[in-house]
Amino acid sequence: MRDGVNGKAANPSELTAETREAFQNNLLDWYRENRRELPWRQREDDPYAVWVSEVMLQQTQVKTVIPYYERWMSRFPTLKDLAEAPLEEVLRLWAGLGYYARARNLHRAAQQVAAEYNGVVPTDPEQLGRLPGIGRYTLGAVLSIAFQQKAAIVDANVMRVLSRVFGIEGDPKANPANARIWALAESLIPDGRARDFNQALMELGALVCAPSDPNCEDCPLLNVCVAGNSLDPTVLPQIPAGKRTVHVTHVSTIIRLDRRVLIIQRPPHGLWGGLWEFPRRVCEPRETPEECARRAAREAAGMQVRIVGPVGTVKHAVTHHAITLLGYEAQLISEQGGKHTPAVRWVTLEEMGTLPLSAPQAVLRETYLRCLERENAGGRQYPLPL
Ligand code: ADE
Repeated sequence: MRDGVNGKAANPSELTAETREAFQNNLLDWYRENRRELPWRQREDDPYAVWVSEVMLQQTQVKTVIPYYERWMSRFPTLKDLAEAPLEEVLRLWAGLGYYARARNLHRAAQQVAAEYNGVVPTDPEQLGRLPGIGRYTLGAVLSIAFQQKAAIVDANVMRVLSRVFGIEGDPKANPANARIWALAESLIPDGRARDFNQALMELGALVCAPSDPNCEDCPLLNVCVAGNSLDPTVLPQIPAGKRTVHVTHVSTIIRLDRRVLIIQRPPHGLWGGLWEFPRRVCEPRETPEECARRAAREAAGMQVRIVGPVGTVKHAVTHHAITLLGYEAQLISEQGGKHTPAVRWVTLEEMGTLPLSAPQAVLRETYLRCLERENAGGRQYPLPL
């Protein structure tokens, strides 16, 4: 059971039948009991639905994706509906998910499938892999989840789980470790179970085999895991220093005046370029979140405010950053004006919902809406659970 011990990483050809079977059975049993009910899991036979969800899930957390996926599927229930839609509408439904090339490619690929394959998603890996935006990950996801083909899916979760279980050293995103992980992921898939097996691996990475705080006691693979039986399971995967996730706290101030809130448009370039947001600043090490909320209002909008209370917490991952966004409601005391002349608007929350927002700001807006609904219903509670 120790294919990867003694610093020797596992090769698929070196896997014993015993290890492979223990891995497969333990993982599938765990998945049956622990899988999350996610909207796309109700349409696993539909390659279009799988495709859309997997493209949305690249770079974006499950919780953020759910409302986007549901809106998308009610507007474009079939591939043909997407192919026939104008690009502007497609981009509007994507707004807030980021990485807009994903939406453009999905749209173009749907048009290509409609024109060349009569609207039927091809099951042939060659044909599927030639469509715009379909890389190795998406190809593996559609082939395995929708068509039950023996194709691997390797995302950051799978890299982490396999690096740890098989003791694979070296940067999992670079060769030789990366090639080894893909080969292992493929060789481990049980016959006829690609759909559940691949999702189980990702699910385990998301729910149990966490990056910095893995819950090894609850792991179905502990008995075959190299890292889990070592002093510090988080030593693997070996992510190069420059690529490690940096944790940052952002604070946004929701300045409310009657039925309106103040929002600011970000400059056109860089992260979240051109998107609208509540005034926001990165929380400094020696600053409390409330102090940061006052500073955000002052620096970003030239406003003096009094903090009313916390609204909620939003978690968001972007490239190597794990962002925790804290929202605070505030009352306007005075307007300083000054040299800050960004694009500032006072809008209702409904109007704000029609503007392009970053994903964490869109979630904060929804959290605040729920907060106000409770206020209207008579009982206000801080902070609101997300
Ligand atoms: N992450 C991306 N796709 C996923 C899926 N289908 N199941 C679990 N986690 C995922």
